[in-house]
This record gives sequence, structure tokens and C-alpha cells, in this order.
Amino acid sequence: MKTYLVTGGAGFIGSNFVHYMLNKYEDIKLINFDKLTYAGNLENLKAVEGKANYVFVQGDICDKELVEGLFEKYDIDYVVNFAAESHVDRSIKMPEIFAQTNVLGTVTLLNAAKKAWEVNGSWKEGKKFLQVSTDEVYGSLGNTGYFTETTPLDPHSPYSSSKTGADLMVKAYADTYKMPVNITRCSNNYGPYQFPEKLIPLLINNCLNKRTLPVYGDGLNVRDWLYVEDHCKAIDMVINNGKLGEVYNVGGHNERTNIQIVKTVIAYLNESVDKEITEALIKYVEDRKGHDRRYGIDPEKIKNELGWYPETTFEVGIKKTIQWYLDNQEWMKHVTSGEYQNYYDKMYEGK
Ligand code: NAD
Ligand code: TYD
Repeated sequence: MKTYLVTGGAGFIGSNFVHYMLNKYEDIKLINFDKLTYAGNLENLKAVEGKANYVFVQGDICDKELVEGLFEKYDIDYVVNFAAESHVDRSIKMPEIFAQTNVLGTVTLLNAAKKAWEVNGSWKEGKKFLQVSTDEVYGSLGNTGYFTETTPLDPHSPYSSSKTGADLMVKAYADTYKMPVNITRCSNNYGPYQFPEKLIPLLINNCLNKRTLPVYGDGLNVRDWLYVEDHCKAIDMVINNGKLGEVYNVGGHNERTNIQIVKTVIAYLNESVDKEITEALIKYVEDRKGHDRRYGIDPEKIKNELGWYPETTFEVGIKKTIQWYLDNQEWMKHVTSGEYQNYYDKMYEGK
């Protein structure tokens, strides 16, 4: 029976991963360790609450004592580190917390894992630290080409730079101490439980409330969209079969311009919900500072080595996602109340 320490498991991808793993395996124990920032929400986890092999612990990955205590209390086999500050726009306004959580928090986890897993200079069998990273560490592409695992790291935003810092510390623990690690770098995820500061849920929420849809710059920046369940499947495969020390890119050739995404969401909601949801809601606003132009993943390595492929096309995934938000409007109401509302108003005032 393997024991997983999943950090950030109350956030978007983390909560999808908790569901995915507990549905797929009965013989695992999963500890979800999350600070419950504005982005973490226990409502995402109602379906697993009370399961005998699931434990939730509230806490900060920067809290050395608490993190070390988890390794003392549980015989942890795998760490899957999702916990992070994850939004580029916020990182532009408040970089410090990104360095704190994303870099120092990761180092705190690495150190605690090392302390528990390394005995007299050798590593206990069957342990692994998986760092969930992002394609944003590679920087920005022109019109052609893709990110491979050997593309030089060239991050631009405080968010992507902090994720790069974390990746390099994970690499340092592997290179210096021979720590068993993997790093996954995925493209933009979408699906259920994504906080509506990110493009797709923000569009859905604004459409339903007839608020304007802010499109940064010319709307022609490109993102490579990955349905969150396909990402969870990739992480599971890397934990179980990834070669130690390796980096795996995860993405499925689903590139779209932002304006294509905006029009797709409008068309679906116009058709299925309300004829008044139209392209008149679109508002081109000032561009994001340092806005990366294009991300595109080359997934050949994870396909060839581990047999991973994305099962959900963008056309299917986006419909499932929009429908999930339509079916879960209470969830949206809860997460957009309180702190988020203030944040939202500040972020978009004047746009
Ligand atoms: P999210 O913002 O939805 O969730 C982050 C979670 O981490 C929240 O539950 C939050 O409470 C928790 N958290 C934040 N700071 C913490 C701390 N100091 N200690 C403990 N918990 C803390 O993020 P997400 O979109 O689910 O992303 C998860 C991971 O995947 C991140 O590491 C992110 O960099 C990476 N990633 C995300 C995407 C994407 O498209 N969402 C793409 C590539 C990589
Ligand atoms: P986002 O979801 O913030 O993810 P990331 O910046 O990590 O790729 O943004 C996706 C793209 O959508 C990005 O090019 C910025 C753009 N965008 C808008 O045009 N308007 C918005 O309101 C938001 C949140 C994003």
C-alpha cells in the first residue's frame, strides 16, 4: 500500500488528481496537505471526505515543523507537489508570495523528504518526489516549433520564474544528493473546479453574469489546452513508470488563440443558455505585462516512453467543462464571494 503526500490538493488540478487517484486505486493512502488560500476549497473534495484512506491536513508547505511532522507521522512513499501560487496576473502584482511558496515551499518539502528517505547516505527503496511544473518555464515561442524537455529554461513572469526556481532546486537535489525525482511540465489545464481568475472559467462566469470579457492585447496569444483528467493520468504514469531524474512534458497539440477560446465559450452559451450572450461582451483591454505569445508542447517523450496520450479533444473537453460550470453554479457563487470579489474588482477596475 503506497502512501501519497499530495500538496495543494484542494486547488484545481490537485483536487481533480485526488478524485482521479482515489477512484482508480483502492489500495493507496492519500494525505492532502493544503494551506487553503483563496484558491483552495474543500468543497472540491466533498465526494472523498470520510474515506478511510484519505486524510486532509491544513498547512503551509513553508512550515518546516509541520511538513517534517507529516513525514514522521506517515510513511510517505510519494510526494506530488501541486501547492503553488499559480496565477500570472497576481504574480505581476505581488511577486514575493510566489517566491515564498513556489521556491521556498518546494525546498522545505524537498528537505523534509530527504530527511525521511535518506538513511546513512542511501535512499530508501520506492520513494519519489514529483514536482508539478509548467511549460511556462521554457518562455515563449514564435509562430513555429514546440517546447521539448531540452528547450532552455527562459521564464519571463514572476510566476514562471518562481516555478523555474523550484524546478532547479528539485534538479539540484537529484544531482547533488541523488534524490529520486521527476518533474512534469504541462500546458494550460482546463476542466472542473478551476478558479475563475483563469481564462476559461472567468469567461464562463462573466458570460453568465453579462459582464465584459476582457481580452488582453490583440487576443492572438496562443495556449496549448490540456483537459485536466488527461493531466492527472500523465502524473499517475510518471509516478509509477517515469525514469528517475527525468523531466516529462505533458500536452496534446490543442493550440488555440485566446480569441478562439472566447468565441467558442460565447457560441456554446448563446446556443444552450441565453441568446443575449454574444460577442458584444468582448472587450479588448491593455495587454498583460511581458505577455508570453505562444506555448506549444512536444509530447513525444511521454508518449514514447510511457504510452501516455490525451484522451479528450478540445472540442469534447470544452463542452464538458462549460456544462460542469452550468451544473455547479452554487460552487461558482461560493468561490466568487468574499475575498475573490474584492480581488476581481481591483484587478479589472477601469477595464
Ligand atoms: P490552484 O491555484 O488552483 O491551486 C493551488 C493550491 O495550492 C490551492 O489549493 C492552494 O490553497 C494551495 N496552496 C497555495 N499555497 C500553499 C502553501 N504555501 N502551502 C500549501 N498549500 C498551498 O493551482 P492549479 O491550477 O491547480 O495548479 C496546480 C499546480 O500545477 C501548480 O504547481 C501550478 O504551477 C501547476 N500548473 C498549473 C497549470 C494550470 O493550467 N492550471 C498549468 C501548468 C502547471
Ligand atoms: P491564464 O488562464 O491566466 O493562464 P496563463 O497566463 O498561465 O497562460 O491566461 C490564459 C491566456 O488568456 C493568457 O494568454 C492571458 C489571456 N487572458 C485574457 O486575455 N483575459 C483574461 O481575463 C485572462 C484571465 C487571461
